[in-house]
Amino acid sequence: MKKIKACIFNAYGTLLDTNLPFDQFKDPLGDNAMNIFKLWRQKRLQYSSQLSLMNRHISYDKIRKYALDFACDVYNITDTDLKEQILNSHSKLNSFPDASAALAKLKDKRIVTAVLSNGTPHSLSREMKSANLDSSVGRIFSTEQVHAFKPSPVVYEYVEQQLGFPASKIAFVSSNSWDIVGAVSYGFYSIWLNRHNRTSEKLPYEADCEIKTLDELDPILSS
Ligand code: LAC
Repeated sequence: MKKIKACIFNAYGTLLDTNLPFDQFKDPLGDNAMNIFKLWRQKRLQYSSQLSLMNRHISYDKIRKYALDFACDVYNITDTDLKEQILNSHSKLNSFPDASAALAKLKDKRIVTAVLSNGTPHSLSREMKSANLDSSVGRIFSTEQVHAFKPSPVVYEYVEQQLGFPASKIAFVSSNSWDIVGAVSYGFYSIWLNRHNRTSEKLPYEADCEIKTLDELDPILSS
């Protein structure tokens, strides 16, 4: 019996859909739209992980901007208004259609729910509100509170302490395989939400289980 007491969710790509803004910019960015968005995502991860290793901290809002500046430089996008619009589009994200029902089921079972994200507290609360998920999630933890980024163990430890349950009784759900590797290594019961059928990581910290949608969560946590 797992007897999970709390379930923590990553935000971007897990509860909040970050693909919609992309659709909006396909035309103005042209043929390289997909590559720009991909590089932007990779650079956000690189910069946040790199800063954690360096024991330095910059807010995730700024990391988003620097990463976009880099991706736009690579593809010669110089239109500053367009760049501004891309950055601002992140403040109006939709939730995935399976998110609110999954959260409601956990609430019914009295499993504590929380978000743990690299996003800043201010951005997260605005984004969760605009996606109508603010009242569905118990608590919102931002890595900003410990000046480190996932997958630093400092971040997972902070949440464990705040929730007051041992790591083995905390489930962690993320669509990011690198985040899952960090959570497994820390000791959470880790569930990889593989929405897009991606290849699994090869490091020896494998997810405890893999799901395709959040509809599969309740039966797993109830067993
Ligand atoms: C998050 C990003 C990195 O922490 O997916 O929500």
